[in-house]
Amino acid sequence: MQLLSISKKSVFFTLFGIFLMIQSHRQSKIPDAHVTCIYSEDCILPCTFPPSLEGVVFQWYKQETLIFSFLEDKDESVHSDISVFTDEVSHGNASLLLEDSSIRSRGQYKCVVNTTKSVWESNVIVKVEAPISGITIGVIPTQHVQCSSHGVYPAPLLKWSTDPSLARTSPQAVTRMSADSNDLFSIVSTLKKMSTNLNLTYICSITSKYSLQSWRASLLQTEMTVHFGQHLVIPCMAPKNIKNLTLTWTFISMNTHTDILTYYSETQRIQYYWADQGELDLYKALMGDGSLYLKYLGSKHSGTYVCTFTGFQVIHIVQTLVKNNVAKAISQADSSGFKLWMAALIVAAVALPCVIYCIYNKCKVSQLKHYGQDPQQDTEMQAMHKDNSVEDLPTENKPLAEYNNEDL
Ligand SMILES: *[C@@H]1O[C@H](CO)[C@@H](O)[C@H](O)[C@H]1NC(C)=O
Ligand SMILES: *[C@@H]1O[C@H](CO)[C@@H](O)[C@H](O)[C@H]1NC(C)=O
Ligand SMILES: *[C@@H]1O[C@H](CO)[C@@H](O)[C@H](O)[C@H]1NC(C)=O
Ligand SMILES: *[C@@H]1O[C@H](CO)[C@@H](O)[C@H](O)[C@H]1NC(C)=O
Repeated sequence: MQLLSISKKSVFFTLFGIFLMIQSHRQSKIPDAHVTCIYSEDCILPCTFPPSLEGVVFQWYKQETLIFSFLEDKDESVHSDISVFTDEVSHGNASLLLEDSSIRSRGQYKCVVNTTKSVWESNVIVKVEAPISGITIGVIPTQHVQCSSHGVYPAPLLKWSTDPSLARTSPQAVTRMSADSNDLFSIVSTLKKMSTNLNLTYICSITSKYSLQSWRASLLQTEMTVHFGQHLVIPCMAPKNIKNLTLTWTFISMNTHTDILTYYSETQRIQYYWADQGELDLYKALMGDGSLYLKYLGSKHSGTYVCTFTGFQVIHIVQTLVKNNVAKAISQADSSGFKLWMAALIVAAVALPCVIYCIYNKCKVSQLKHYGQDPQQDTEMQAMHKDNSVEDLPTENKPLAEYNNEDL
């Protein structure tokens, strides 16, 4: 009985031992790893196995094609931009390093490790993402707003909205996507500006498909009619809940861009470029109010003032056209006054010789009568003079007359 039980036990242990041997020599399958490489950056594809002191042999395959093999401390790479961390192999790390990853780096990779005890195999699914690196928004002719981003992979999503949001009309946009020679996408969307009395902010959001990072660009166009000789506050509010902003004010007049100032919220520093032409209230700026203060308005101040807030994945632009209607009327009135003076001077200049001539002529006629000479010749001269004055006056008077008609 005892013998039997011992033999039963030995059979059991023998079977268990065989099972363990089979188990250890079986290919060990590790769950697939998912890696998202960043375009043009280095990328590590993980592959780990139980550390082994004896000779380790491993290969890396991409879509069943051998791309790298490591044999007894000698690595052989098919591509120069693929390598492993040789020093890490003894620690059970056979991870692959892809340098300068491109869109073509995408795919299914396989790592096969042979140790004396077992064979380890693991799959790595590689995606490549070129994250959104910038967003632009601007006005293009014929009343359109354009939003764009370049060098993105995979193709991002773009959405328009307005603030305040218009319940009835949803923004109608034309969005175009194109790929460059590196397979990176450019997205350009054009929206027709909506006719409304409201100060409408157009908001464009571009979202990447993998990391779901969202970039936001917004634009508000408005205008102000101002008086010369006064101060002016051009409003500009930062987007809500955005920390660490940079604010720049730029002045555009006759296609010339002039930087006014830059404000950095992180350091609370203002850098002025255009001396004495505009100021920021530092306390208000801290609260997100980036309004520009212009102390004394002159004719050189009419143009477009652009306030640009840039923060993490956000840009907000306010374009304010500053017009000088009242000042224009004053300058016109000035010039009409000047013209009246000119006309008066001309009339005087023409009239005075006439008066002198007439007085002189009267004397002359009386004198001629005295001497018995015909005054006919002088009458012709007088007519000629008259012609001259008729020719001169209307041309000088014409703008004045037109002007008065317009103005009154
Ligand atoms: C393998 O080694 C590389 C290089 O040192 C390291 O970046 C990586 O995290 C290691 N992988 C594991 C799983 O330890
Ligand atoms: C690794 O192990 C597998 C399975 O035992 C074998 O087919 C293959 O030849 C081995 N590779 C090397 C390089 O030893
Ligand atoms: C639009 O903005 C301008 C400049 O800030 C302001 O003067 C005007 O009153 C605003 N119009 C409306 C309808 O809110
Ligand atoms: C704030 O923004 C600047 C410029 O974009 C950047 O250099 C800085 O690291 C940011 N600081 C923080 C705390 O995010």
